[in-house]
Amino acid sequence: MDIEAEIRELQLDSAEDSNGVTNPEDAKPEEVEMTDKVEVEGMKDEVHRNSQPAKVKDKEAAAVEDVEALDEKGKEKKRHLNVVFIGHVDAGKSTTGGQILFLSGQVDDRTIQKYEKEAKDKSRESWYMAYIMDTNEEERVKGKTVEVGRAHFETETTRFTILDAPGHKSYVPNMISGASQADIGVLVISARKGEFETGYERGGQTREHVQLAKTLGVAKLLVVVNKMDDHTVNWSKERYDEIESKMSPFLKSSGYNVKKDVQFLPISGLIGTNMKTRVDKSICPWWNGPCLFEALDRIEVPLRDPKGPFRMPIIDKFKDMGTVVMGKVESGSVCEGDSLLVMPNKAQVKVVAVYCDENKVRCAGPGENLRIRLSGIEDEDILSGFVLSSVAKPIPAVTEFTAQLQILELLENAIFTAGYKAVLHIHSIVEECEIVELLQQIDPKTRKPMKKKVLFVKNGAFVVCRVQVENTICVEKFADFPQLGRFTLRTEGKTIAVGKVTDLPSA
Ligand code: GTP
Ligand code: MG
Repeated sequence: MDIEAEIRELQLDSAEDSNGVTNPEDAKPEEVEMTDKVEVEGMKDEVHRNSQPAKVKDKEAAAVEDVEALDEKGKEKKRHLNVVFIGHVDAGKSTTGGQILFLSGQVDDRTIQKYEKEAKDKSRESWYMAYIMDTNEEERVKGKTVEVGRAHFETETTRFTILDAPGHKSYVPNMISGASQADIGVLVISARKGEFETGYERGGQTREHVQLAKTLGVAKLLVVVNKMDDHTVNWSKERYDEIESKMSPFLKSSGYNVKKDVQFLPISGLIGTNMKTRVDKSICPWWNGPCLFEALDRIEVPLRDPKGPFRMPIIDKFKDMGTVVMGKVESGSVCEGDSLLVMPNKAQVKVVAVYCDENKVRCAGPGENLRIRLSGIEDEDILSGFVLSSVAKPIPAVTEFTAQLQILELLENAIFTAGYKAVLHIHSIVEECEIVELLQQIDPKTRKPMKKKVLFVKNGAFVVCRVQVENTICVEKFADFPQLGRFTLRTEGKTIAVGKVTDLPSA
């Protein structure tokens, strides 16, 4: 049996079936807010225990004044979805993200003209739409996203946070950080001749991103087949069908239920075709499905429990009239005035203010990306990877845990055995770890533990082992909090295994 079949056999994430709420189909795209960019630590898989103030960049795109639209009353009616854009380098993620903002009315024609000129001056004419998302000089000069871009837009029924991940393989750790904050993913695939093929080959980021997204809890995927306008494609049905038929079995082997959790559609991100309105029949006579905005509006959200114990992994922090921490609420709710713990250092803090998409709110629930101003702690005492947690039921803090791993692809000549070292990515944590003991190998066919004691395992194996880290980290059992209990292991810039926490040492 090949590796992919084995992964399918023991789908790590089958624990959660996203039972969700469907949405009305008739929503119209509306106004948008503000965009900013967060510099994610841990690029190139280096382990950062960083206590430097984080850099938060505001994009040039204008903020909409309409804060009222997001007041507490309005918010209760609107659901919120975090969408990560993933896919191989140059697939058109930033272009598509930028086009969404343009089509939603956030970016005006003058700004686009300015970007057109800037892109031309940099001999990157076709990149002007991507400049809406790619805001720093390095990104614009090289035409590659480095940091996860963040933007917000709204439709009548939904507030979306867009996370624009980088496609280049050097920046996979940033992509991991973006995907771990997302509920759903837009997988962007270039239909241009040769580009789909490069992204899909082994070592291409189309594959790695899909496997990571599934492991990181991205429950649903919209697969947009992009660059349909390109002269090598010309809205060809054959090309579209070829990509869909090659991607479907791969998505299945990565753990996605293709019928329930995946939807394909053709677009041109650059021109904006089949995005806000359906593609004209004169351009694409064979497409009868939805456009991107419709598909986004219809996608189901996973159910979340606002009453669970509060958990918010901290992705960043900075000083601003006190200490401000940023992150996505994975469980429970938070209100102004709440007392909480910063774990693992058990620091008692008080919530001074809660900000959701730049707007001050009184309370916020699970799934929200927040900035929380705290009193009772200095920003240097917080590291990314710490977790803001309820006092009554604090998150476990450990230096060791038991995990079930599935080995994807080890580096050449490497053996996976006790003593194996890798970089652990779990929620917002990036930490060096060591496999201290292999406990059991699992038979991929029967899913039962095998009797024979194992000393090492090969590619494709499923194994239960003990994992140790040097610094205390906060994690949960996958069965209790899937988002805080699933992880990836990477070595030398390659994802070598995915896993879930199955047991924690008793306190
Ligand atoms: P990374 O951030 O480096 O991973 O790339 P990306 O996926 O964000 O791609 P980006 O949006 O920067 O676009 C890369 C190139 O593809 C640019 O030259 C775009 O103009 C071009 N491109 C993107 N979308 C389309 C499209 O729909 N049609 C055509 N013809 N070109 C496109
Ligand atoms: Mg990009």
